[in-house]
Amino acid sequence: MSRYALFGRSVSSSPSPRIHAAFARQTGIAMEYTAIDVEPQALGAALEAFVAGGGRGANITVPHKEAAFARCARLSDRARQAGAVNTLRLDQGQWYGDNTDGAGLVRDLTDRHGLDLRGRRTLLLGAGGAARGVAPALLEAGVGELVIVNRHPERADALADMLGEPARAHTRYWEDLATIGDFELIINATSAGRHDGSALMLPLALCNDMTAAVDLNYGDVAIAFLAWARSAGLRTIIDGLGMLVEQAAESFQLWHGVRPDTDAVYALLRQATPEPKAA
Ligand code: ATR
Repeated sequence: MSRYALFGRSVSSSPSPRIHAAFARQTGIAMEYTAIDVEPQALGAALEAFVAGGGRGANITVPHKEAAFARCARLSDRARQAGAVNTLRLDQGQWYGDNTDGAGLVRDLTDRHGLDLRGRRTLLLGAGGAARGVAPALLEAGVGELVIVNRHPERADALADMLGEPARAHTRYWEDLATIGDFELIINATSAGRHDGSALMLPLALCNDMTAAVDLNYGDVAIAFLAWARSAGLRTIIDGLGMLVEQAAESFQLWHGVRPDTDAVYALLRQATPEPKAA
């Protein structure tokens, strides 16, 4: 049986093993998928041991996406653009790296939630690994202006440079959030609240009548941003659970050549993580 795993920090309660087990049952593919907790300095050794034990592919999550990127012999264009990988596949003894986060987000927003992203003035909060993973896919999906705002502005500038579309994707300062106008799409790609419980303080002036608010996180980490969106009266409020399932399906397809159906798995996970309430 071929082995697959999620490598990350504190991943023991991640839903990914359940997601992939469900995909495997659905498609009749025999595979094992486990979650492996690993600290940054141990990632290389952990991946080698995994391959020696029959590992054929992996998902990579925080904080290893950039380190895993550096270990790849070959990369998809979208992984190269993101500078980070969330999916590894062993090809002739070497890692091929991909990043399925952006495609997963866009599929969740368009197919599951029925959003038309084209032309939307979009605010991307954050410029870390998560933001870099989704920004190219947002541009490809046709969003209008993409304004990137990060606490440390140099990281936002680096992301905008990487995207290479200055007419569409550019940066503003975090301190100016109250005066940069309103957006039809606001994406929280920060990790605020993940480590220290700190919540984002965002001005309501960012919102208009048709703003959709999306958090790439789900569960407890997403509570504060989603509550802010509700307090702003927004009717479209989306957490990262659907993106999690969709990026997993993209990874599964990369490994097995089959695209699983995601709706049943998404419905299963929703039982434990209720849908965010709109205003
Ligand atoms: P990830 O892979 O989840 O993106 P990361 O690369 O560590 O993790 O990036 C975390 C992002 O969340 C960064 O954009 C970070 O901003 P800085 O680059 O300025 O540090 C952002 N972030 C984390 N905590 C935040 C907070 N309390 N307020 C605003 N931004 C925050």
